Amino acid sequence: MKNIDFKKYLASKAEYVNSALKRFLPKDNSVISQGMRYSVLAGGKRLRPIFVFLAAELLGVKSKNVLPAACAVEYLHTYSLVHDDLPAMDNDDLRRGMPTSHKKFGEAAAILCGDALLAEAFNLITKSNAADKNINEAIKILSDYSGYQGMIAGQAEDTLETGGWSEKSKKVLEKKLKFIQIKKTAALIVASLKIGAVLAGADKKDLKALETYGTNIGIAFQIADDILDVYADKKLLGKNGSDADNDKLTALSLFGKEEAERRADEHIRKAKKALSIFGDKAEIFLQLADYMSSRNY
Ligand code: IPE
Ligand code: IPE
Ligand code: MG
Ligand code: MG
Ligand code: MG
Repeated sequence: MKNIDFKKYLASKAEYVNSALKRFLPKDNSVISQGMRYSVLAGGKRLRPIFVFLAAELLGVKSKNVLPAACAVEYLHTYSLVHDDLPAMDNDDLRRGMPTSHKKFGEAAAILCGDALLAEAFNLITKSNAADKNINEAIKILSDYSGYQGMIAGQAEDTLETGGWSEKSKKVLEKKLKFIQIKKTAALIVASLKIGAVLAGADKKDLKALETYGTNIGIAFQIADDILDVYADKKLLGKNGSDADNDKLTALSLFGKEEAERRADEHIRKAKKALSIFGDKAEIFLQLADYMSSRNY
């Protein structure tokens, strides 16, 4: 697929997700429903739902069957962003080009909107068109990868311990950074791939390959996010960038831009290699891997 067609492909899948999200989101006028709609429909690249589709399609199942699961991971992702932006976390005021949830609705409402999206994600995933045992497995994956040993472990490491970097050895910091990248970011990407795959009846070998792919592109994705936090056109990025203000440990702060980019490339290479078992069927995954670090927002 040519680059231009690839971009069109991503846009059409994102549009498919957007129309489903509009159908699934609550329609009433309570503050929480308004807040849920506001943050979910603000925009976003919809990459995690696209991973759900692609993993299912790789194993011969149509996107339509996993559409609720795809929307569920976007709910969960959006909840993580709403909470990530709170004053007690990264304290950001712009997200997806709009004022953050707490700026618009107040802190208490933003916390509750995040809570609601998290809870509803698990409801939504049950609506997928798949065997009950596969749906159960998908629910477990979402819980494991987003929970206290998954995304939350990464957010905790990222947020609860900041500063004092100069006192720690580079080796300790590299290990800590790897943990943060894998848990806070790669975990939900791996979960999205695995959810699409198990709903399509994947075997262990498929799951292992997708896990290696997802972990590596997830790390590369977060490296790009760290670089964009400083170097991106903020208007295009839709967020203001707060890592330096918050004295975060990031790929950029630890390695500098050039070395961070080199490491991202290395992860992209490993990711692509992991999918060789799928042969030509994995073509789109290879392009997505490149997109992870070449993106400009
Ligand atoms: C931002 O994710 C948070 C990270 C895990 C780096 P995205 O860059 O996918 O954000 P949206 O969904 O496109 O807004
Ligand atoms: C956020 O990482 C990861 C999660 C929300 C789980 P960041 O704090 O780097 O994400 P941005 O830059 O605010 O989107
Ligand atoms: Mg953060
Ligand atoms: Mg943040
Ligand atoms: Mg960031």
